[in-house]
Amino acid sequence: MRSHYCGLLRDTDIGQEVSLYGWVHRRRDHGGVIFLDVRDHEGIIQVIFDPDTEESFALADQVRNEYVLQITGTVRARDEAAINPKMPTGEVEVLGLQLTVLNAADTPPFQLDEFSSAGEDVRLRYRYVDLRRPEMQKKLRLRSRVTHQVRQFLDTRDFVDLETPILTRATPEGARDYLVPSRTQPGNFFALPQSPQLFKQLLMMSGFDRYYQIARCFRDEDLRADRQAEFTQIDIETSFQGEDEIMSLTEEMFRQLFQENINVDLGDLPRITYHDAMQKYGTDRPDMRFELPLIDIADLLRDVEFKVFSGPANDDASRVAALKLSRGDRLSRKNIDDYTKFVSIYGARGLAYIRVNDLSVGVSGLQSPILKFLPDDAVLAILDRVGAEDNDIIFFGADKQNIVNDALGALRARLAEDLDLYERGWAACWVTDFPMFGETGDGGWTSLHHPFTAPLGDIADMEANPGATLSRAYDIVINGYEVGGGSIRIHQADVQKAVFRTLKLSDNEAAMKFGFLLDALKYGAPPHGGIAIGLDRLIMLLTGSTSIRDVIAFPKTQTATCLLTDAPGSVDPDQLHELGIAIVKSEQE
Ligand code: AMO
Ligand code: AMP
Repeated sequence: MRSHYCGLLRDTDIGQEVSLYGWVHRRRDHGGVIFLDVRDHEGIIQVIFDPDTEESFALADQVRNEYVLQITGTVRARDEAAINPKMPTGEVEVLGLQLTVLNAADTPPFQLDEFSSAGEDVRLRYRYVDLRRPEMQKKLRLRSRVTHQVRQFLDTRDFVDLETPILTRATPEGARDYLVPSRTQPGNFFALPQSPQLFKQLLMMSGFDRYYQIARCFRDEDLRADRQAEFTQIDIETSFQGEDEIMSLTEEMFRQLFQENINVDLGDLPRITYHDAMQKYGTDRPDMRFELPLIDIADLLRDVEFKVFSGPANDDASRVAALKLSRGDRLSRKNIDDYTKFVSIYGARGLAYIRVNDLSVGVSGLQSPILKFLPDDAVLAILDRVGAEDNDIIFFGADKQNIVNDALGALRARLAEDLDLYERGWAACWVTDFPMFGETGDGGWTSLHHPFTAPLGDIADMEANPGATLSRAYDIVINGYEVGGGSIRIHQADVQKAVFRTLKLSDNEAAMKFGFLLDALKYGAPPHGGIAIGLDRLIMLLTGSTSIRDVIAFPKTQTATCLLTDAPGSVDPDQLHELGIAIVKSEQE
């Protein structure tokens, strides 16, 4: 029987006989005395075996890293000189009396405290070793605590925790589906849910009033540092509540989670419209820990000869914007070249800049590769518009709106990171008034949120001008991460049909794919809305992790494989036969 956790022993335990279980973290031989650092999830305790306890001493001599042990011994104070203030257990040690080796271990693939040199592939392949690290234990335990707190928060507010199917039909959230073949209906497939969206709406139509689920979602999309193929949402839906009520409920939950777990006061969340966020920050997930706004200057450049600027300045679909960085003299020529390369990732064809050396002497106090192309009055007007001061550097983007927004938006975030421009540790906000549709490129429209989001305003107006229609969607953004998103839904069949029409889904197709929803909307659907919070991203933020993989016990790689189990893997030909599936090799293979 365990009497204590290794990592919790303190000087108040001195004199006690204890029974411990744990792993050998390190073994040291100090001139006839053996020191074992024994680790459990609470931490590490130093255990000493001396030759007096002959049998145990001999065993202790043989153990190696990651052996699993049971030890009994007596807690004693360390010698003054041996006290380790860096360890929580550093004032005590255990004099080992009896030792049992519960299991031996091969030399581990990496030393736990040297994990960073192991590389992530090795960590993922031997995840069970990686997860023994205190840092990983802490992150996943926090995750468990947060889901508990979320349940408590929602349970006390009358939310019902209900599960929805994993084997289902496609639920459009903008990614590819993971498909599962049906054996009983050969040639037919289930899709794994990209979110429980339609089921939570159906639950509102079923009279549940308030629903939540800590729900697994599956999306076959390009993976990034904040994206997994399989991830978890805190999924919420309510009836008879509007945007304000859903947003304030969410805010209250976030404030509580941040306060209780990392002692951070998120304060009241400001709201910014999608339009303003794009204009000011070039992105719909603005990092508001710092300012550094994009400033429009197209109106100053319509008549200049420099086509790079005047072209976009005279085109409605384009944008010319400036980004003014104070103390731009911190940046070397090489930095600027690097940033030019960086913005090219986003399609920018260059990164024009002006260095402001000495404003008092006018244009001759400036330094820039584009001065020769611009008349002095235009340059002075730009300086005035951005409020330039000595030692500033001003960057420019001129191109199609999305390119300028993507490039300068990313540059803004990159500069903040490189130069530590953050004025506060945390900045959360709501982004509202999203466009209902985005252009597909071939003249069609696609939903910006999902097709069940209610449009703002009149249906006739929406059908006449989809591009100008806003939706009742909202995103919660923290430090530049989209942590959650939701909307008020369509609860009337004719509105839903109009949206499907706009998406060029024929009545037939709509009936085939979403007939069950259109039916349900006819039989007494209450007005409803909700939100889904990306649990993994939330935990990333709360633990200060830079990768989503660090807050998921068994994550997948960038190419959506599990290195531990080697999934996805091939299957038995008989299984395929039973499913009526034949594998067709593509030519490259
Ligand atoms: P949305 O698609 O915006 O909305 O997803 C909600 C939140 O889920 C998180 N998220 C992800 N996290 C990790 N990996 C991914 N691949 C991934 N994709 C999304 C994000 C995001 O904000 N049904 C709607 C919600 C609603 O309308 O209520 C939905 O799924 O943090
Ligand atoms: P060029 O005339 O192409 O040599 O460009 C002159 C300067 O303008 C260089 O500093 C380029 O980096 C910059 N530049 C070129 N195209 C753009 C653009 N679309 N947006 C911003 N700067 C640009």
